[in-house]
Amino acid sequence: MLAGPQVTINRPAWISSTGGGHRSSARSPHLQRRVTPSAIAAPPKHSTPPAKAEIFRSLEGWAADNVLPLLKPVEKCWQPQDFLPDPTLPAAEFADEVRLLRERTAELPDEYFVVLVGDMVTEDALPTYETMLNRTDGIRDETGSSPSPWAVWNRAWTAEENRHGDLLRTFLYLSGRVDMVMVERTVQYLIGAGMDPGTENDPYLGSVYTSFQERATFVSHANTARLAKEGGDPVLARICGVIAADEKRHELAYTRIVDGLDGEGRRAQEFVCGLAQRIRRLQERADEKAKKKTEAEAVKFSWIFDREMVL
Ligand SMILES: [Fe+2]
Ligand SMILES: [Fe+2]
Repeated sequence: MLAGPQVTINRPAWISSTGGGHRSSARSPHLQRRVTPSAIAAPPKHSTPPAKAEIFRSLEGWAADNVLPLLKPVEKCWQPQDFLPDPTLPAAEFADEVRLLRERTAELPDEYFVVLVGDMVTEDALPTYETMLNRTDGIRDETGSSPSPWAVWNRAWTAEENRHGDLLRTFLYLSGRVDMVMVERTVQYLIGAGMDPGTENDPYLGSVYTSFQERATFVSHANTARLAKEGGDPVLARICGVIAADEKRHELAYTRIVDGLDGEGRRAQEFVCGLAQRIRRLQERADEKAKKKTEAEAVKFSWIFDREMVL
Protein backbone atom coordinates (compact mmCIF):
# COMPACT_ATOMS: atom_id res chain seq x y z
CA MET A 1 0.00 0.00 0.00
CA LEU A 2 1.30 3.45 -0.83
CA ALA A 3 1.96 5.66 2.13
CA GLY A 4 0.20 8.94 1.65
CA PRO A 5 0.62 12.15 3.56
CA GLN A 6 -0.63 12.11 7.13
CA VAL A 7 -3.58 14.16 8.15
CA THR A 8 -3.59 16.01 11.45
CA ILE A 9 -6.79 16.16 13.42
CA ASN A 10 -6.90 18.33 16.50
CA ARG A 11 -8.62 17.21 19.63
CA PRO A 12 -12.00 18.91 19.89
CA ALA A 13 -11.59 22.27 21.55
CA TRP A 14 -14.39 22.26 24.07
CA ILE A 15 -12.41 20.78 26.92
CA SER A 16 -9.18 22.37 28.11
CA SER A 17 -7.42 19.54 29.87
CA THR A 18 -4.28 21.48 30.66
CA GLY A 19 -5.74 24.37 32.57
CA GLY A 20 -3.57 26.60 30.39
CA GLY A 21 -4.32 30.12 29.29
CA HIS A 22 -7.51 31.22 27.66
CA ARG A 23 -8.02 29.80 24.15
CA SER A 24 -4.74 27.91 24.35
CA SER A 25 -6.13 24.39 24.06
CA ALA A 26 -6.93 24.44 20.35
CA ARG A 27 -3.36 25.36 19.52
CA SER A 28 -1.51 23.07 21.94
CA PRO A 29 0.59 20.66 19.86
CA HIS A 30 0.32 17.87 22.47
CA LEU A 31 -3.43 17.80 21.96
CA GLN A 32 -2.99 16.76 18.36
CA ARG A 33 -3.06 13.18 17.16
CA ARG A 34 -2.25 11.78 13.78
CA VAL A 35 -4.37 9.43 11.75
CA THR A 36 -3.51 7.78 8.49
CA PRO A 37 -5.54 8.45 5.34
CA SER A 38 -6.35 4.73 5.12
CA ALA A 39 -8.45 5.10 8.29
CA ILE A 40 -10.36 7.93 6.67
CA ALA A 41 -10.64 6.40 3.23
CA ALA A 42 -12.23 3.07 4.22
CA PRO A 43 -14.47 1.92 1.38
CA PRO A 44 -18.13 2.80 1.90
CA LYS A 45 -20.36 -0.06 2.98
CA HIS A 46 -23.55 -0.70 1.08
CA SER A 47 -25.20 -3.47 3.04
CA THR A 48 -28.58 -2.91 1.42
CA PRO A 49 -29.37 -5.57 -1.18
CA PRO A 50 -30.63 -3.97 -4.42
CA ALA A 51 -34.09 -5.43 -3.73
CA LYS A 52 -34.35 -3.57 -0.43
CA ALA A 53 -33.27 -0.28 -1.97
CA GLU A 54 -35.89 -0.93 -4.62
CA ILE A 55 -38.54 -1.26 -1.91
CA PHE A 56 -37.77 2.30 -0.82
CA ARG A 57 -38.04 3.53 -4.39
CA SER A 58 -41.35 1.73 -4.78
CA LEU A 59 -42.64 3.42 -1.63
CA GLU A 60 -42.40 6.93 -3.05
CA GLY A 61 -46.19 7.22 -3.27
CA TRP A 62 -46.54 6.01 0.30
CA ALA A 63 -43.91 8.53 1.46
CA ALA A 64 -45.76 11.35 -0.32
CA ASP A 65 -48.98 10.43 1.49
CA ASN A 66 -47.60 9.53 4.92
CA VAL A 67 -44.29 11.28 5.48
CA LEU A 68 -44.43 14.59 3.61
CA PRO A 69 -47.58 15.72 5.50
CA LEU A 70 -45.41 15.78 8.63
CA LEU A 71 -43.51 18.74 7.19
CA LYS A 72 -44.77 22.18 8.08
CA PRO A 73 -45.30 24.75 5.32
CA VAL A 74 -42.62 27.43 5.55
CA GLU A 75 -45.20 30.15 6.12
CA LYS A 76 -46.48 28.29 9.19
CA CYS A 77 -43.05 27.64 10.64
CA TRP A 78 -41.55 29.76 13.37
CA GLN A 79 -38.35 31.53 12.43
CA PRO A 80 -35.41 32.39 14.70
CA GLN A 81 -36.20 36.09 14.45
CA ASP A 82 -39.57 35.48 16.14
CA PHE A 83 -37.69 34.87 19.42
CA LEU A 84 -34.82 37.35 19.14
CA PRO A 85 -34.41 41.11 19.72
CA ASP A 86 -35.80 43.00 16.73
CA PRO A 87 -32.94 44.68 14.83
CA THR A 88 -35.38 46.95 12.93
CA LEU A 89 -36.17 48.81 16.16
CA PRO A 90 -34.40 52.08 16.86
CA ALA A 91 -30.94 51.36 18.26
CA ALA A 92 -31.84 52.22 21.86
CA GLU A 93 -34.89 49.94 21.88
CA PHE A 94 -32.94 47.11 20.28
CA ALA A 95 -30.25 47.57 22.95
CA ASP A 96 -33.00 47.43 25.61
CA GLU A 97 -34.20 44.08 24.27
CA VAL A 98 -30.64 42.73 24.33
CA ARG A 99 -30.21 44.04 27.88
CA LEU A 100 -33.39 42.28 28.97
CA LEU A 101 -32.23 39.05 27.32
CA ARG A 102 -28.97 39.27 29.26
CA GLU A 103 -30.77 40.00 32.52
CA ARG A 104 -33.02 36.97 32.04
CA THR A 105 -30.04 34.65 31.55
CA ALA A 106 -28.09 36.09 34.48
CA GLU A 107 -29.37 33.50 36.97
CA LEU A 108 -28.71 30.49 34.77
CA PRO A 109 -25.56 28.61 35.86
CA ASP A 110 -22.49 27.94 33.72
CA GLU A 111 -23.44 24.26 33.61
CA TYR A 112 -26.63 25.18 31.82
CA PHE A 113 -24.70 27.01 29.12
CA VAL A 114 -22.31 24.12 28.59
CA VAL A 115 -25.33 21.92 27.83
CA LEU A 116 -26.94 24.58 25.64
CA VAL A 117 -23.72 24.95 23.65
CA GLY A 118 -23.64 21.15 23.32
CA ASP A 119 -27.14 21.29 21.86
CA MET A 120 -26.20 24.15 19.57
CA VAL A 121 -23.07 22.58 18.11
CA THR A 122 -25.02 19.35 17.56
CA GLU A 123 -27.56 21.31 15.52
CA ASP A 124 -24.85 23.26 13.71
CA ALA A 125 -23.26 20.09 12.32
CA LEU A 126 -26.29 19.83 10.04
CA PRO A 127 -24.15 19.54 6.86
CA THR A 128 -22.90 16.23 8.24
CA TYR A 129 -26.44 14.90 8.69
CA GLU A 130 -27.69 16.00 5.28
CA THR A 131 -24.61 14.37 3.76
CA MET A 132 -25.48 11.18 5.63
CA LEU A 133 -29.04 11.17 4.31
CA ASN A 134 -27.82 11.75 0.79
CA ARG A 135 -25.44 8.79 0.99
CA THR A 136 -28.34 6.50 1.72
CA ASP A 137 -29.27 3.95 -0.94
CA GLY A 138 -32.79 4.20 -2.32
CA ILE A 139 -33.62 7.59 -0.80
CA ARG A 140 -30.72 9.89 -1.75
CA ASP A 141 -31.29 13.09 -3.67
CA GLU A 142 -29.79 12.13 -7.03
CA THR A 143 -29.68 15.61 -8.53
CA GLY A 144 -29.78 18.05 -5.62
CA SER A 145 -33.34 19.09 -6.47
CA SER A 146 -34.94 15.73 -7.14
CA PRO A 147 -38.77 15.62 -7.00
CA SER A 148 -38.65 12.17 -5.32
CA PRO A 149 -40.65 12.42 -2.06
CA TRP A 150 -37.66 11.00 -0.15
CA ALA A 151 -35.42 13.76 -1.54
CA VAL A 152 -38.10 16.40 -0.93
CA TRP A 153 -38.27 15.22 2.69
CA ASN A 154 -34.48 15.26 3.09
CA ARG A 155 -34.20 18.83 1.86
CA ALA A 156 -37.19 20.16 3.78
CA TRP A 157 -36.09 18.35 6.96
CA THR A 158 -32.67 19.97 6.59
CA ALA A 159 -34.30 23.38 6.09
CA GLU A 160 -36.40 22.92 9.24
CA GLU A 161 -33.39 21.78 11.24
CA ASN A 162 -31.32 24.71 10.00
CA ARG A 163 -33.47 27.06 12.12
CA HIS A 164 -32.46 25.26 15.33
CA GLY A 165 -28.75 26.02 15.18
CA ASP A 166 -29.40 29.54 13.86
CA LEU A 167 -31.67 30.41 16.77
CA LEU A 168 -29.49 28.91 19.50
CA ARG A 169 -26.33 30.42 18.04
CA THR A 170 -27.77 33.94 17.87
CA PHE A 171 -29.24 33.65 21.36
CA LEU A 172 -25.93 32.46 22.80
CA TYR A 173 -24.09 35.27 21.01
CA LEU A 174 -26.41 37.92 22.45
CA SER A 175 -26.32 36.41 25.95
CA GLY A 176 -22.59 37.11 26.30
CA ARG A 177 -22.32 34.05 28.51
CA VAL A 178 -20.13 31.88 26.28
CA ASP A 179 -16.84 32.18 24.41
CA MET A 180 -18.14 32.33 20.85
CA VAL A 181 -14.73 31.85 19.24
CA MET A 182 -14.26 28.53 21.05
CA VAL A 183 -17.81 27.50 20.24
CA GLU A 184 -17.27 28.35 16.57
CA ARG A 185 -13.99 26.43 16.50
CA THR A 186 -15.78 23.43 17.92
CA VAL A 187 -18.35 23.58 15.12
CA GLN A 188 -15.58 23.82 12.55
CA TYR A 189 -13.80 20.80 14.05
CA LEU A 190 -17.04 18.87 14.28
CA ILE A 191 -18.09 19.39 10.67
CA GLY A 192 -14.54 18.82 9.46
CA ALA A 193 -14.31 15.53 11.38
CA GLY A 194 -17.52 14.12 9.85
CA MET A 195 -19.43 11.17 11.28
CA ASP A 196 -19.92 7.53 10.45
CA PRO A 197 -22.86 6.27 12.50
CA GLY A 198 -22.32 2.74 11.17
CA THR A 199 -25.55 2.70 9.19
CA GLU A 200 -23.74 1.51 6.05
CA ASN A 201 -25.75 3.64 3.62
CA ASP A 202 -28.69 1.41 4.43
CA PRO A 203 -32.06 3.26 4.42
CA TYR A 204 -33.47 0.94 7.12
CA LEU A 205 -30.54 1.48 9.48
CA GLY A 206 -30.43 5.18 8.58
CA SER A 207 -34.12 5.65 9.43
CA VAL A 208 -33.77 3.74 12.70
CA TYR A 209 -30.71 5.76 13.67
CA THR A 210 -32.40 9.03 12.76
CA SER A 211 -35.58 8.26 14.70
CA PHE A 212 -33.38 7.63 17.74
CA GLN A 213 -31.37 10.82 17.32
CA GLU A 214 -34.59 12.82 16.92
CA ARG A 215 -35.76 11.42 20.24
CA ALA A 216 -32.39 12.17 21.84
CA THR A 217 -32.48 15.80 20.67
CA PHE A 218 -36.12 16.08 21.77
CA VAL A 219 -35.17 14.95 25.28
CA SER A 220 -32.21 17.32 25.48
CA HIS A 221 -34.11 20.39 24.20
CA ALA A 222 -37.09 19.61 26.43
CA ASN A 223 -34.78 19.43 29.45
CA THR A 224 -33.11 22.76 28.65
CA ALA A 225 -36.60 24.27 28.22
CA ARG A 226 -37.62 23.09 31.69
CA LEU A 227 -34.40 24.29 33.29
CA ALA A 228 -34.63 27.69 31.58
CA LYS A 229 -38.14 28.12 32.96
CA GLU A 230 -37.02 27.14 36.44
CA GLY A 231 -34.02 29.45 36.08
CA GLY A 232 -36.14 32.49 35.27
CA ASP A 233 -35.90 32.80 31.48
CA PRO A 234 -39.32 32.10 29.93
CA VAL A 235 -38.18 33.22 26.47
CA LEU A 236 -35.31 30.75 26.40
CA ALA A 237 -37.74 28.14 27.70
CA ARG A 238 -40.00 28.82 24.71
CA ILE A 239 -37.02 28.69 22.33
CA CYS A 240 -35.93 25.27 23.58
CA GLY A 241 -39.57 24.17 23.69
CA VAL A 242 -40.35 24.98 20.05
CA ILE A 243 -37.16 23.25 18.94
CA ALA A 244 -38.11 20.19 21.03
CA ALA A 245 -41.54 20.17 19.35
CA ASP A 246 -39.88 20.07 15.91
CA GLU A 247 -37.75 17.14 17.01
CA LYS A 248 -40.82 15.27 18.24
CA ARG A 249 -42.54 15.78 14.86
CA HIS A 250 -39.38 14.57 13.09
CA GLU A 251 -39.21 11.52 15.34
CA LEU A 252 -42.78 10.73 14.38
CA ALA A 253 -41.84 10.90 10.68
CA TYR A 254 -38.85 8.59 10.99
CA THR A 255 -40.77 6.22 13.24
CA ARG A 256 -43.54 6.14 10.66
CA ILE A 257 -40.99 5.25 7.97
CA VAL A 258 -39.63 2.38 10.07
CA ASP A 259 -43.13 1.19 11.00
CA GLY A 260 -44.12 1.33 7.33
CA LEU A 261 -41.42 -1.19 6.58
CA ASP A 262 -40.92 -4.71 7.68
CA GLY A 263 -40.50 -6.31 11.09
CA GLU A 264 -36.73 -6.24 10.77
CA GLY A 265 -36.68 -2.47 10.75
CA ARG A 266 -39.15 -2.31 13.61
CA ARG A 267 -37.14 -4.71 15.76
CA ALA A 268 -34.00 -2.69 15.13
CA GLN A 269 -35.84 0.50 16.06
CA GLU A 270 -37.19 -0.99 19.29
CA PHE A 271 -33.69 -2.07 20.20
CA VAL A 272 -32.15 1.32 19.49
CA CYS A 273 -34.95 3.32 21.14
CA GLY A 274 -34.75 1.03 24.16
CA LEU A 275 -31.17 2.17 24.53
CA ALA A 276 -32.41 5.46 26.02
CA GLN A 277 -33.67 3.53 29.08
CA ARG A 278 -30.42 1.59 29.32
CA ILE A 279 -28.35 4.75 28.98
CA ARG A 280 -30.43 6.35 31.75
CA ARG A 281 -29.73 3.37 34.03
CA LEU A 282 -26.01 3.64 33.26
CA GLN A 283 -26.19 7.34 34.06
CA GLU A 284 -27.89 6.61 37.40
CA ARG A 285 -25.19 4.11 38.25
CA ALA A 286 -22.51 6.64 37.28
CA ASP A 287 -24.23 9.27 39.44
CA GLU A 288 -24.24 6.91 42.42
CA LYS A 289 -20.56 6.18 41.91
CA ALA A 290 -19.83 9.89 41.66
CA LYS A 291 -21.66 10.50 44.95
CA LYS A 292 -19.45 7.95 46.67
CA LYS A 293 -16.32 9.68 45.45
CA THR A 294 -14.86 11.95 48.09
CA GLU A 295 -13.52 14.40 45.54
CA ALA A 296 -15.51 15.59 42.57
CA GLU A 297 -13.63 16.15 39.34
CA ALA A 298 -13.38 19.71 38.09
CA VAL A 299 -13.02 20.18 34.34
CA LYS A 300 -12.34 23.42 32.54
CA PHE A 301 -14.54 24.17 29.54
CA SER A 302 -13.26 26.58 26.94
CA TRP A 303 -16.87 27.35 25.95
CA ILE A 304 -17.34 29.16 29.26
CA PHE A 305 -13.99 30.96 29.25
CA ASP A 306 -12.09 28.06 30.83
CA ARG A 307 -14.14 28.21 33.99
CA GLU A 308 -14.37 24.95 35.89
CA MET A 309 -17.37 22.72 36.01
CA VAL A 310 -17.64 19.97 38.62
CA LEU A 311 -18.53 16.65 37.05
FE1 LIG B 1 -32.69 19.89 15.55
FE1 LIG C 1 -35.02 17.08 14.22
